Amino acid sequence: MNLDQYLGEAEVIEREGTTALNAANDLDALEAARVAFLGDRQGRVKALQESLKSISKEDKPAAGKRFNEARTRLQSLHDERKTALGRARHAGAQDDLSLPERRVWKGAKHPVTLVIEEIEGIFRELGFTVAQGPEAETEWYNFGSLNFPPNHPALDAHDTLYLEGGGLLRTHTSPVQVRTLQRYAPPIRVLIPGTVYRRDFFDASHAPAFAQIEGLCIDEGISFVDLKSTLNLFAERFFGASRTRFRPSFFPFTEPSAEMDVQCGICGGSGCPACKGTGWIEILGSGMVHPAVLESAGLDPERYTGWAFGMGPARIAISRYGIPDIRILYDSDVRFLEQIAGPVLSGVEG
Ligand code: PHE
Repeated sequence: MNLDQYLGEAEVIEREGTTALNAANDLDALEAARVAFLGDRQGRVKALQESLKSISKEDKPAAGKRFNEARTRLQSLHDERKTALGRARHAGAQDDLSLPERRVWKGAKHPVTLVIEEIEGIFRELGFTVAQGPEAETEWYNFGSLNFPPNHPALDAHDTLYLEGGGLLRTHTSPVQVRTLQRYAPPIRVLIPGTVYRRDFFDASHAPAFAQIEGLCIDEGISFVDLKSTLNLFAERFFGASRTRFRPSFFPFTEPSAEMDVQCGICGGSGCPACKGTGWIEILGSGMVHPAVLESAGLDPERYTGWAFGMGPARIAISRYGIPDIRILYDSDVRFLEQIAGPVLSGVEG
């Protein structure tokens, strides 16, 4: 190859390389152009370097100078383009507001937990504290201390699992009434959420293990008026219920006893599937704490009186959220949690 041919070849490679590098409009295309021209193995600049060998000694300095020029220009054009394209890619992503954020679902509170926390919030404002008791209970706390006579038919509804060496899985949170009264002196205002166990079928409206919330208020001079007014205030706050009704009932540990219904918030009382056509939703059992229970706890029933209630937050959750089957609450399906609690997301570094 003579010098003119070499200079001509260098010119062509430089021009075509410049065109290719400028035409690359993303980093992948730029890399392909770099390999084609500046690549160590098959690059055309490399080939130009190889053909320097065929140039005569006296022409070599001129050819070598031109070679260096072409290579340096292409190399710096490449470097410039690479910086520019990298910056553009970044700016482009930031500007595209239609792209979804990079986030993952972190989980959400269970509907029953949401209900319990809201109820706790309302009662805390009324001066109640929150307490807990054991799920493995003695027969005395679960039944005896609560004035269940042996073999009383009320025990039928409270069949449960008995534990080796005595004891049972508690069938309600009421034993924690007695535990609390033994430990703390009145005035007592306490809310006791917890899991209870019963020999119930697992069907659309029953579960063999479920949450309860117990409420207890004991002091001197507490009457049924306090029970009604407190529970009415709760119903108004929690359900927005304008109307409640108290129906006479029976529990061995309260006298008198009453079940409280709230007017169905979905149909407003005219009857719908949520209230099984009655216009009312039964939400809790309640009553004045029986003197025998106060005695079990070592309190003088001539001095102290009070009231208690027990409610099922799962029942409340299914009516509030329109959940058709209570078993969904136990399925651990996070799509269901998200539907009720809404998306709870955490940001992730992009
Ligand atoms: N412990 C009762 C039950 O499980 C509910 C209740 C609690 C009733 C307190 C009255 C007072 O059915």
